[in-house]
Amino acid sequence: MTGSAAAGAGIRNGAAAAPVIAIDGPTASGKGEIARRVAQLLGWHYLDSGALYRVTALAALRAGIALDDEGGLAALARELPVSFAGERILLGGQDVGDHIRRQEVGSAASQIATIGAVREALGVLQRGFRRWPGLVADGRDMGTVVFPDADLKVFLTASVDCRARRRHKQLIEKGFSANLPSLLQELCERDARDTNRALAPLRSAQEALVVDSTQMTIEEVLERIVQEHRRRNG
Ligand code: DC
Repeated sequence: MTGSAAAGAGIRNGAAAAPVIAIDGPTASGKGEIARRVAQLLGWHYLDSGALYRVTALAALRAGIALDDEGGLAALARELPVSFAGERILLGGQDVGDHIRRQEVGSAASQIATIGAVREALGVLQRGFRRWPGLVADGRDMGTVVFPDADLKVFLTASVDCRARRRHKQLIEKGFSANLPSLLQELCERDARDTNRALAPLRSAQEALVVDSTQMTIEEVLERIVQEHRRRNG
């Protein structure tokens, strides 16, 4: 992996930057699971950028910061006491992995993600994850804004019904209550907000490999992405 992947990586500050695979797509498209498994397969680092928006939203809700208080939210994002311990995500030392998956936290995350100063602060945090031997990053703007020089950009999507069913199953399996029609409505609202916002809207990078997973298994999606990575890197 390393030699050929390095050849494709950009040069930053005079040193070769670690290669990046950017996987963007709408909420519940399966990009988190796919990105994590691609990283595992390649032995690369993994970044769930949505988790950073979710942690910021959770911290704001807990601190009573209004979701339209741009100054307060930006200050919070710049000083976010977030850390990672293996697969666990900690806020102020407390494991918040399950809390940040709640529907209201996702919705708040999507609202604060429209604020430029929040995106800027979290962008700095995200770029810090770019380390050798490589990074697989998932989100909305990994290939378009945060890592525009990514070696491979994937846009992973699925029909909104399929995504609502997948998210419903995921929540039930985690022991949360969930209602399919309200999830479907919330996904549609979130898609509209993420796609229509002025800053870093959800869209496929021009050169992205577009994968519609509606009729595909996770293994098939994984195979498609890893195959493309190997094809490019010989
Ligand atoms: O991927 P997710 O559902 O965990 O993301 C939660 C919200 O965070 C999403 O609605 C929009 C925002 N987000 C973003 O604006 N940019 C990213 N790179 C990742 C997430």
